[in-house]
Amino acid sequence: MQPIQIAVIGTGSISSLHLDAYTKNANANLYAVCDLNEGRARAAAEKYGAEKVYTDYRELLADPVIDAVSICTWNNTHAEISIAALEAGKHVLVEKPLCKTVEDALNVQEAVEKSGKLLQVGFVRRYDTNAQLLRAMADRGEFGEIYFAKASTLRRLGNPGGWFSDIERSGGGPLIDIGVHVIDLCWYMMGRPRPVSVSANTYHKLGNRSNVKNLSFYQAADYDAEKNTVEDMANALIRFENGASLLVDVSFTLHAKSNETSVKLYGEKGGFEIDPETVIVTEQNDTILNIYPQTDSKGFEFNSAFQNEINHFIDCVTTGKQPLSPVEDGVEIMKILVGIYESAAKGAEVRL
Ligand SMILES: NC(=O)c1ccc[n+]([C@@H]2O[C@H](COP(=O)([O-])OP(=O)(O)OC[C@H]3O[C@@H](n4cnc5c(N)ncnc54)[C@H](O)[C@@H]3O)[C@@H](O)[C@H]2O)c1
Repeated sequence: MQPIQIAVIGTGSISSLHLDAYTKNANANLYAVCDLNEGRARAAAEKYGAEKVYTDYRELLADPVIDAVSICTWNNTHAEISIAALEAGKHVLVEKPLCKTVEDALNVQEAVEKSGKLLQVGFVRRYDTNAQLLRAMADRGEFGEIYFAKASTLRRLGNPGGWFSDIERSGGGPLIDIGVHVIDLCWYMMGRPRPVSVSANTYHKLGNRSNVKNLSFYQAADYDAEKNTVEDMANALIRFENGASLLVDVSFTLHAKSNETSVKLYGEKGGFEIDPETVIVTEQNDTILNIYPQTDSKGFEFNSAFQNEINHFIDCVTTGKQPLSPVEDGVEIMKILVGIYESAAKGAEVRL
């Protein structure tokens, strides 16, 4: 079998996880990289052994050697680059969030359908080994109907600056950047029920707190604390057609004593937690049991989840199988995210 020829567009912070995983996949060949910043693209090409370097993604897409692309650029470019790549006959793995608006998401979906190429959304949390284990148990009905989920991803200090804090390029703050991961994870675990309404709040109280010293945090490749037009905190209650609900809170900054990540789901026959540690809660012999699965990692394992995500993408491209995180799911998650911002702006519940 000929290896799938890969190009990575955007060679900033997260791209290293894609680049590294492609170089470890025997059925993929990292052929090209592209970034607006030529020096950054050249450095990535040298480090990971890519043959071609581009600064204009349109020139890259015209290269007939390329079969598939990873899009690791700013959120405001995801829809445009995805559509151009699909139209150029390339398969696409696009980082989360799919884009900034529901309209753009539907345009991407239409381009997927027209092109017959596949698009996988980078909902990397789905690809974690523990998440897959729990999903398989849910499929076997071991938790019964999952009717409530609760997720927090709170950074006390962690506004990545640069484009992340510029609403024009990011589409929003912690909600669209890190909240998207836990919202998608809960929704996926709940069996992807149709969202029907959202009631939410966003807060712009603390700013980016770039004055704080002696605590490091994730930063955009071009870190700049000058501009900050995104919320620093959001919370939301999402209702689904089947009566289930999801409660979520997220922050880039908050006067919390520490960072906090928790993902908990509750079903009729049992419940489970994914973050910070995988644990299953059930009842047997009139006794409540907390069960700790013996897997390689107790919590989310970033590197192996990315490797699984990339391996799955290559497998789908090779076999024509539909991805575990298809474009339709990217569209549904966009509806929820946009609904949350809309509800917060109105100060009222919105119907989706
Ligand atoms: N899956 C995850 O856990 C995860 C984690 C972090 C970031 N992300 C996502 O990955 C994407 C990139 O985030 P990052 O942290 O790497 O940001 P970054 O700022 O570090 O890197 C983005 C890069 O994209 C380049 N770029 C922007 N527009 C471009 C264009 N039109 N053509 C070519 N290059 C372009 C920039 O020059 C920059 O080098 C975002 O969508 C973000 O939401 C995902």
